Amino acid sequence: MSIYILGIESSCDDTSAAVIRDREILSNLIANQEVHRAFGGVVPELASRAHQQNIIPVVEQALDKAKIHKNQLHAVAFTRGPGLLGSLLVGTSFAKSFALSLGIPVIDVDHMEAHILAHFIEEPGFTSGIPAFPFLCLTVSGGHSQIVLVKDYFDFTIIGRTIDDAAGEAFDKAAKILGLPYPGGPLIDRLAMDGNENTFTFPEPVIPGLDYSFSGLKTSFLYFLRDRLREDPQFIEKNKPDLAASIQKVIVDVLLKKLIRAAAEYDISDIALAGGVSANSKLRKSLEQKAGELGWRVFIPRFEYCTDNAAMIAITGYFKYLRQEFGSQGMSAYARSGDRKGG
Ligand code: KG4
Ligand code: ZN
Repeated sequence: MSIYILGIESSCDDTSAAVIRDREILSNLIANQEVHRAFGGVVPELASRAHQQNIIPVVEQALDKAKIHKNQLHAVAFTRGPGLLGSLLVGTSFAKSFALSLGIPVIDVDHMEAHILAHFIEEPGFTSGIPAFPFLCLTVSGGHSQIVLVKDYFDFTIIGRTIDDAAGEAFDKAAKILGLPYPGGPLIDRLAMDGNENTFTFPEPVIPGLDYSFSGLKTSFLYFLRDRLREDPQFIEKNKPDLAASIQKVIVDVLLKKLIRAAAEYDISDIALAGGVSANSKLRKSLEQKAGELGWRVFIPRFEYCTDNAAMIAITGYFKYLRQEFGSQGMSAYARSGDRKGG
């Protein structure tokens, strides 16, 4: 018998719902929130309000697209945390009441675990391979940057993490300094294609172990430009592609250096990538190159499963369903991983 799970993701600014039949994704709908663009970043209060407006239509569309009736669902999986509390509460409350009305269990899912388990999604017509345990997953997005040692479906150890900004944040902040709109990561990527990455050099942060730090890089970029603009107010306009390419190079080099060190330390050759920054063309190219040199197998899910999405919540829900690990109606959301409690 097939298991049908509805997944709901509302941890940040995208409302997403997905339906999965065992490991096969049947639908994955995402409502993006345009309201934040004018503010240059996500405004939590506006995000929760938009989730409230979007959640019912998005869930209806996900069921329609999957061509299933809500009565066929076996469970409702939802992101319990980490993320913006107000946003998470919308998904959490909806999931609990929807499951209650259908008389089926809820399954609470950790957003970061879901980014990793997204590698196990199956989709007809797409035959990308699946990493073998143990593998390393580099999760890089606007909110997170971490290297995770994945020993089994639910056996993870974070072996490296950012001590300040996330990699996507570094891209977005650099873009903002260049006068680009939010989110600037994809724009830096595009500009960099016409630039020379060796034109300018910025100091790589020196952080012990496998951890990352990106805030110093942002500051040195800012001060470098402040000084150059004093000499030539047109400096940014004249050098945009080279600036984009040069800052992108440092961010990607920093990400890869720790990943290479982690792979050597743990003797692992299956490397997975997750999070929105995995769309970055320089990161992808450099990873492929390293894979060739170091004998790695590299796994990058389709982009819609790399950014925040409900398909990854649904697949994690499926694996938890098999283990009969259910949540409860008493459960609330948690903003930070450290705040996770039972319930
Ligand atoms: O996973 P995601 O959609 O949401 C979060 O959980 O944050 O990641 C969004 C982040 C943003 O910081 C965005 O600028 C970055 O991913 N991003 C990129 C690219 N595409 C998205 N950064 C660099 N190059 C890209 N091509
Ligand atoms: Zn995420």
